[in-house]
This record gives sequence, structure tokens and C-alpha cells, in this order.
Amino acid sequence: MTLDLNSLLVCPGCRASLPPPILWGEEERRCACGRSYALSRGIPRFVASDAYAGSFSFEWQHHRRTQLDTTPNGESERTFRRKTAFTPEDLRGRLVLEVGCGMGRFAEVASRWGADVVAVDLSLAVEAARENLAERPNVAFLQADCFALPFAPETFDVIYSIGVLHHTPDCGAAFRTLVPLLKPGGTIAIWVYATMGRWAVVANAYRRLTTRTPHRLLHALCYVAVPLYYLHRLPLLGAVTQMLFPTSMHPRATWRVLDTFDWYSPRYQSLHTPDEVREWFELAGLTEIRVLEAPVAVRGVRSRGASAEDNG
Ligand SMILES: C[S@@+](CC[C@H](N)C(=O)[O-])C[C@H]1O[C@@H](n2cnc3c(N)ncnc32)[C@H](O)[C@@H]1O
Repeated sequence: MTLDLNSLLVCPGCRASLPPPILWGEEERRCACGRSYALSRGIPRFVASDAYAGSFSFEWQHHRRTQLDTTPNGESERTFRRKTAFTPEDLRGRLVLEVGCGMGRFAEVASRWGADVVAVDLSLAVEAARENLAERPNVAFLQADCFALPFAPETFDVIYSIGVLHHTPDCGAAFRTLVPLLKPGGTIAIWVYATMGRWAVVANAYRRLTTRTPHRLLHALCYVAVPLYYLHRLPLLGAVTQMLFPTSMHPRATWRVLDTFDWYSPRYQSLHTPDEVREWFELAGLTEIRVLEAPVAVRGVRSRGASAEDNG
């Protein structure tokens, strides 16, 4: 099935449907309220820039395919299952919103499973994502801020967001903006960073410096840090070096560079507990709430009696 993105888009300012796609032309689509939205390099843009997410524009342009599965049941698919508990049966034929898609590794999984996927990201990652999944008629990408998404309430059967909301200025508020977009009976699943051990305290101290370091330099330093992996794996001594110089322990070197950069570069990065996130779900009126094993992954269902005003 070919996904008709244009029929889903509304003006994030006044919520009116946007004029017919023909007026979208190649450059811009103008709402009756005066706001206009650009279409550039084939991607609708609902933000003027990547705002605070420049580190992610850099990251996903340099690691466009590092985490993209090349075979079924690859690492990204297994991560997707672990952090959402979704199965192909949950998503097949559904209209799905992915919030913060990066270079599209989870959109790749969901669309392969047969969902129609609308994937948004604040950063230029959408360009890499679109290129990665250019052959999939059931995926569409747009650049937008999760706090002002161009969709009407009750549009999606499923919403998921993995590793994203804690990178916004207010993780809980970002979650709350997504719930009204869910149809009654629809499911939302999120995964956010957990409050972690002492190493996170050390890593966060480094972040005071690294979040101000030019991306190119920080990325080069991450390459230098990659061999620390071998030191970190030593018995006893490794525990100390990991505490002092926390870096990714992924077995693949390029993946370690990416993960380490991903930890040290983002402007915003908050940590959360399962109880806290469960409470967000309860307060948003969601039901069938499940706290999954991957900390902190939570999913819930919008009750069938819910109306757009309840959470809007
Ligand atoms: C760590 S990456 C995760 C990407 C993807 N979910 C994955 O796991 O591969 C976080 C992503 O969230 C995006 N992001 C941050 N703030 C956002 C916002 N306000 N709206 C939409 N996306 C946002 C970033 O641009 C970045 O691509």
C-alpha cells in the first residue's frame, strides 16, 4: 500500500487541513492562517531548522547505516521488540507514527512488518532515513518537532518513540503531546533513559564539557576512546576504568563510536524511573499499562471512551 501522507497533514499552528498537495509545489505549502511549510529535498519541513538537535543531524549523517538491519531479526529489530513488545501482528496494516526516527532503523522494521509508517524527527536525520528507505512506499518522513506535530487528534493506531523524549527539554511534556494523536483503542510505547548507576554521574560530569565541544572534534575523540573497550573488559581493573572513562561496550567498533557520541553530544538528556514513567501513563488516562523489562520501556492503550479533549 502507498501511504498518502498529504491527506494526514494539518497546520501545526491553527490545526486546519493544509491546502491540496498541488499547491505544495516543490517549495512550500501555505496555510490559510498565513504559516507556510517548506518541502525540500522531497521532505516536508515543519521547522525552520534542527534547533537544539544539531548533534543528531551530525550523528545520523555520519552513521547513516551503522544500525540499519540488513537481515530480518537483526539487532535493531531485536531492540525494537525488546523496547516496545510489538510483534508483526500488532503493526501489520496499522497507521503508525514514529517520533524521533533518526536514520530510520525502527521505521525499517515496522514497515517491513507491514505497517504504514509516518516517521518524524527534528534533525536532518530524516534525510538519511528517507534515503535508506527510499524503496518503501509505506513509509514517509517529515522534519518536525514533537511538540508541534502536523496531525489531527486521533489519527494513529500506534505511536512509538524509542530513545527520543529524554532528549527534549521536557520529557514528560513531550509524552503528553503525543497521546491525543492516538485513536481510542490505539497503543503508545516509549523507551527513555533510566536513572543509572554511578558511572552515569561521571559521564554526566563530562557532558558539561562535551556538549560544548564541536561535533567534529568530539566525534574524533570518540574514535580515540574506542580501544578503551579492551581495557574496560579486564577483570577488576575494567570496573575502575569504566567508572572513570565511561564509553560504549558494544562489540562492534563503529557502533561504539556512534553510541559514545550519542551519549556525550546531545544538548538535553534526562534520566527517568519506571515509576515516574508509569505515572505519566496513568495521568494521561492510558489503560493496560505495561512496564517492560528494558528500563525504562512502558506502553499503554488509549481507552475507547477517551476523546481528543481529554488529553488535548
Ligand atoms: C538518540 S536519537 C534516537 C533515534 C532513533 N529513535 C533510534 O533509536 O535510532 C534521538 C532522536 O530524537 C530526535 N529528537 C530530539 N528532539 C526531538 C523533537 N523535539 N522532536 C522530534 N525529534 C526529536 C533527534 O533529532 C534524534 O534523531
